[in-house]
Amino acid sequence: MKTPKIFITRKCPEESLEALKSLGEVQMWDKEDEPCPRDLLLEKAKEADALLTMLSDQVDEELLNKAENVKVISNLAVGYDNINLDYAKQKNVIITNTPDVLTDTTADLTFALILAAARRVIEAADYVKEGKWTSWSPLLLAGADVHHKTIGIVGMGKIGQAVAKRAKGFDMNILYHNRSRDYDAENKLEAVYKSLNELLAQSDFVVCMTPLTNETKKMFNADSFRKMKSSAIFINTSRGGTVVEEDLIKALEEGEIAGAGLDVFENEPISPDHPLLKLPNTVALPHIGSATLETRYAMIDCCVQNIKSVLTGKSPITPLN
Ligand code: DGY
Repeated sequence: MKTPKIFITRKCPEESLEALKSLGEVQMWDKEDEPCPRDLLLEKAKEADALLTMLSDQVDEELLNKAENVKVISNLAVGYDNINLDYAKQKNVIITNTPDVLTDTTADLTFALILAAARRVIEAADYVKEGKWTSWSPLLLAGADVHHKTIGIVGMGKIGQAVAKRAKGFDMNILYHNRSRDYDAENKLEAVYKSLNELLAQSDFVVCMTPLTNETKKMFNADSFRKMKSSAIFINTSRGGTVVEEDLIKALEEGEIAGAGLDVFENEPISPDHPLLKLPNTVALPHIGSATLETRYAMIDCCVQNIKSVLTGKSPITPLN
């Protein structure tokens, strides 16, 4: 039998790939801080039996047409808006993602952003490092409380629920909006279902946890920011495409909302001169929601096990199509 070829589009730790190496020929794009060039990915897709891709790789018709021998594409993310799932199905290519293993880690980072934005943590840390701290004063870098406030979670999937669980520990009042009501979450977490407009109007923290789909694309726009409290803080750890960034900038500049905590952007990496990065009331992170060593190793292992399963004739473990 022919030795299977596996191509990995980003440098992963060698020791996490043992199971693949014993299965076939593993090739990996090995530049740490540069994505695999599209042309190379297309060329590798032509020869490969399996691909391990990142959320920054477009798995579109062009790629799937080249990927004649590819049986499985394992995407190192829970989100899969970079993949044309329907076309993959037509081409009989199995697509897998990495659910569950990153739920708590991403919820932790979401809460870190809530706290950082509300309590001006980054601004305060910079203040000390820049030698600006000359005395204690009553309102120096005073932010907003998080405890006992109202959080509005848009997208009550697993990560949304993990955020709600943390919010409960902060004695927050939990509102949520979702495609459908989740009675289990309502009972367990005392979360209250609201229409989107009610949630926007009543929340102190509006937290976007929804996947990027045709329905959620640009759902946070001028109209949504206008409906929020002027003291509200907008948090996004899902996908930048859910937000109209010019509208968010305007809302932040004009005091329509009080602040933002963002881990994701319309175009990533965000350009260093992007106006969002100039705003003092915005905390911006480089898409690190799931970035802990434990979780990233678990995500890589999830991809590896999926590829192994499919290439050895078994069912994928976490299939999407
Ligand atoms: C995902 O998994 O979709 C995150 O955005 C990256 O971990």
